[in-house]
Amino acid sequence: VTAGAAVALLPGPLARAATASPAAPAQSFTVPMSVPPVLRPSASTSDGLLYTMTMAETSVEVLPGRLTRLRTFNGQFPGPTILAKRGQPVIIRQTNKLSVPTAVHLHGGHVASRDDGFPTDTIPPGDTRDYYYPNAQPAASLWYHDHAHHQEAENVFRGLAGSYLLTDEYEDQLPLPRDEYDIPLLIRGGRFAPSGNLIYDADDPDGPDHPAVLVNGRPRPYFQVAARKYRFRIANVANHQLFGLRLRGGGGMVQIGSDGGLLPEPVDVSEVRLSPAERADVVIDFSRYPLGSRIVLENTEACEDECPDVLRFDVVRPAQDTSRIPDRFLPLEDYGPPVVERRFVLTSDVRNNRHFINGKEFDADRIDIRPKVGNTEVWTIVNGDAAHRIPHSFHTHLERFKVLDRNGRRPPASESGLKDTVAISPGETVRIKVRFHDYTGRYVYHCHIMEHNGTGMMGQMEIER
Ligand code: C2O
Ligand code: CU
Ligand code: CU
Repeated sequence: VTAGAAVALLPGPLARAATASPAAPAQSFTVPMSVPPVLRPSASTSDGLLYTMTMAETSVEVLPGRLTRLRTFNGQFPGPTILAKRGQPVIIRQTNKLSVPTAVHLHGGHVASRDDGFPTDTIPPGDTRDYYYPNAQPAASLWYHDHAHHQEAENVFRGLAGSYLLTDEYEDQLPLPRDEYDIPLLIRGGRFAPSGNLIYDADDPDGPDHPAVLVNGRPRPYFQVAARKYRFRIANVANHQLFGLRLRGGGGMVQIGSDGGLLPEPVDVSEVRLSPAERADVVIDFSRYPLGSRIVLENTEACEDECPDVLRFDVVRPAQDTSRIPDRFLPLEDYGPPVVERRFVLTSDVRNNRHFINGKEFDADRIDIRPKVGNTEVWTIVNGDAAHRIPHSFHTHLERFKVLDRNGRRPPASESGLKDTVAISPGETVRIKVRFHDYTGRYVYHCHIMEHNGTGMMGQMEIER
């Protein structure tokens, strides 16, 4: 496929001209959604289940009838799904056959520093590295993606992301929808040249929301469902873009989980808002629709006259359904009173495309904070970019946090669970409570807008005993 070369050669101005005639289909719902295949372990070792992945350039059909040159895990876009069980460690052997360095990060994973994909701890082209994930944390919908400093934004944009679904004994005995009724939905945008290749434009990486929104790597697909309940693990894997997801016509959804696992109790929601890297587990009951119904999931973040299409559910067959949503799940762990308070102010120098936390750009040689194992801390995160109307999406590695308040007000019920990423709207102040449980070492915290963390909006902590 000669199209591969075009990616690297397209200069900025041409790239912009190309977007005037987007290659994504004008019509929605012309392609079926795919469900990323589950990866099988290649061996069972005394340290855990061994999975092997190769990062390489691959041509994949994203838009109908065209090939897109992508940076993939195992040739797939999105990457394969890992199904992990609490108490069963996983080793992922990653070989980098790309021409750029990579660092694989398990987003939301409670893992040792050396296995965390620290941005400067990269796998050079040609090398192989094992990442060890102990899976000692409660069930949660995690995802993995590249994190190589200054490469992460383009690497993720070109395909290096996938789902990692961790279950546990508690979740396993709940009567929730499972197996083929438990489906990840990885949502992002994309900017395509007429050739079908992606154009990486750091100024507007996700491209126009309509028509190029991708669900599990396909543009505005349809998905045939049975008339019963489904659990969807929705993840915003966009570089940049916010999604407000709503069923057109107003059908409700039940949110049962967020970044860090199940909520304390299910919440009825009419819309799921996700900033980059946030996740929501929702249950949709299609038995309330007659067979033959077509229900559109739309994006309320980009509505002008009407909200753009994301995905259509086609109710095509009847089905048995013994699944049920329990009235409540487990209460959250008590983090106790905070002993340390910190403040992080997120600001941008728009003209020079630089981004800061407390006035500083990321420096791998500087430790910004030194939390202590066993301590609970309250972090106040201020979006200082009100004037530029820039939203941020604050993420910390290693630990999950509770959202205490937004501008002094209680957060919505959808934020009542443990989180690892939180939206901070322009001008907003959000307080979170985090506890450092066990691991020591270096980790990062950052804005998860990929173009912000790659250009400075990231800090480094060294957790000490
Ligand atoms: Cu999704 Cu620093 O990570
Ligand atoms: Cu992370
Ligand atoms: Cu940001």
